[in-house]
Amino acid sequence: MSQTFDVIVIGAGPGGYIAAIRAAQLGFKVACIDEWKNAAGGPAPGGTCTNVGCIPSKALLQSSEHFEHAQHHFAEHGISTGKVTMDVAKMVARKDAVVKQNNDGILYLFKKNKVSFFHGRGSFVRAFEGGYEIAVSGDKPDTLVAKQVIVATGSNARALPGVAFDEVNILSNDGALRLSAVPKKLAVIGSGVIGLEMGSVWRRLGAEVTILEGLPTFLGAVDEQIAKEAKKAFDKQGLKIELGVKVGEITTSKKGVSIAYTDAKGESRGLEADKLIVSIGRVPNTIGLNAEAVGLKLDERGAIVVDDECRTNLPGVWAVGDVVRGPMLAHKAEEEGVAVAERIAGQHGHVHFNTIPWVIYTSPEIAWVGRTEQQLKADGVAYKAGTFPFLANGRARALGDTTGMVKILADAKTDEILGVHIVGPMASELIAEAVVAMEFKASAEDIARICHAHPSLSEATKEAALAVDKRTLNF
Ligand code: FAD
Ligand code: NAI
Repeated sequence: MSQTFDVIVIGAGPGGYIAAIRAAQLGFKVACIDEWKNAAGGPAPGGTCTNVGCIPSKALLQSSEHFEHAQHHFAEHGISTGKVTMDVAKMVARKDAVVKQNNDGILYLFKKNKVSFFHGRGSFVRAFEGGYEIAVSGDKPDTLVAKQVIVATGSNARALPGVAFDEVNILSNDGALRLSAVPKKLAVIGSGVIGLEMGSVWRRLGAEVTILEGLPTFLGAVDEQIAKEAKKAFDKQGLKIELGVKVGEITTSKKGVSIAYTDAKGESRGLEADKLIVSIGRVPNTIGLNAEAVGLKLDERGAIVVDDECRTNLPGVWAVGDVVRGPMLAHKAEEEGVAVAERIAGQHGHVHFNTIPWVIYTSPEIAWVGRTEQQLKADGVAYKAGTFPFLANGRARALGDTTGMVKILADAKTDEILGVHIVGPMASELIAEAVVAMEFKASAEDIARICHAHPSLSEATKEAALAVDKRTLNF
């Protein structure tokens, strides 16, 4: 006997579980199916983000940052320690405990909101008049039907052609987050978000890290001035980043991994490492969904084709998050999940793609929202730029972290904020003010006229806004 729901959500990552909760809040009878298993084989909802993405990476970034501070920065505060050591197994166990708290939290939220959770793989069986039949395979097979289906099946790490992840020597984000010891030499292919975050973790713990990047520019999507400042800081830390390389043959042996590549000058080079992380982007995941059974349309990259409102080619079938177009970010997936649940309820959910913030959780952190200076130039928009360095911010000095700046780009005529770019301490938190400002179509002058607490890093944002009008007070 099949069970009938109003809405079935396939996938309980940030896109799926948030969509399920919002749909339940709106009065629908909701099922959410997710196949992720924890080490004991039990359910582990939360998707990539919770299990092998945002949450565990930030846990390791925190641990490794504490380690680096204890080793290199405590002394300047007058704190002396004995020899500082790192118990990698304990650090990884703490990370696992943080992940479990989040898994359990989602199961609790499902109960609280009366979302029926099914642990197993969800696949389309058939479409029938008025709905879809979905099979749940797993320990307790089931059949569910509903008029509305939200697909939120996420993404998987992209492998280099012919170089499969073995998670021993050749690591995806999954293996990179559960190394049992610090590799002496760590190679990373791809200096994007994962390469920089994971490279930072293992460098702080003592690995000699070399990142090989295919493109000639560093962080091409980031505002050039900000990327340059970040690169300077990473160089100083000893994170070796080689740009413009062409990766060739990769071989593994008992000793580790050998990577042949051509450098930017066209010379053949080789890199020997104990471990290799491949972080060259992610691919949408529809494995096991049986999309063909109902004719769900995918594009050439394997992403589910959706319109601006996350509608697929099938009536009543929606798709959100990493499995569709747009940035692969947890908060983007969540916003789409909420918007779709609201659309199903006849409301007008909306996601503003222009105001989705990005954060890279390195040290210094890099965060931005809106357009970069190079994008504004390409779009032919006349703009004014204001920057303020953390070096001139009292709180940053007190923290002992004065790297970087806040940069605000505003329309030359109207003064409307078009982009905010930050490299420096707590950029991940500071960017929220910029997002709110842009959502409210604030001008740079609005920020400049708002009282900011002293001493706080946020004063750098106010000063950057003043700088747009060439009237900083503290620089
Ligand atoms: P996912 O989180 O991938 O969830 C999909 C879920 O669907 C999974 O649980 C999967 O098991 C399940 N599933 C798939 N197919 C089926 C099926 N047929 N039946 C049942 N279940 C199925 N983003 C940020 O915004 N901030 C960060 O700091 C950040 N850090 C990251 C760090 C790393 C190392 C990685 C890899 C990613 C990071 N991301 C970050 C990206 C973020 O994790 C993703 O954008 C986000 O998880 C996408 O959410 P989603 O719900 O679309 O998919
Ligand atoms: P990415 O797209 O951020 O970076 C991939 C990098 O690899 C690019 O610089 C690209 O030029 C390079 N590259 C691609 N093919 C290559 C090749 N053959 N040789 C050398 N270099 C090559 O992808 P990444 O780092 O794998 O992360 C995937 C996604 O996960 C991110 O785009 C982001 O959406 C999400 N993520 C978000 C985080 C955050 O928000 N803080 C943290 C980690 C991941």
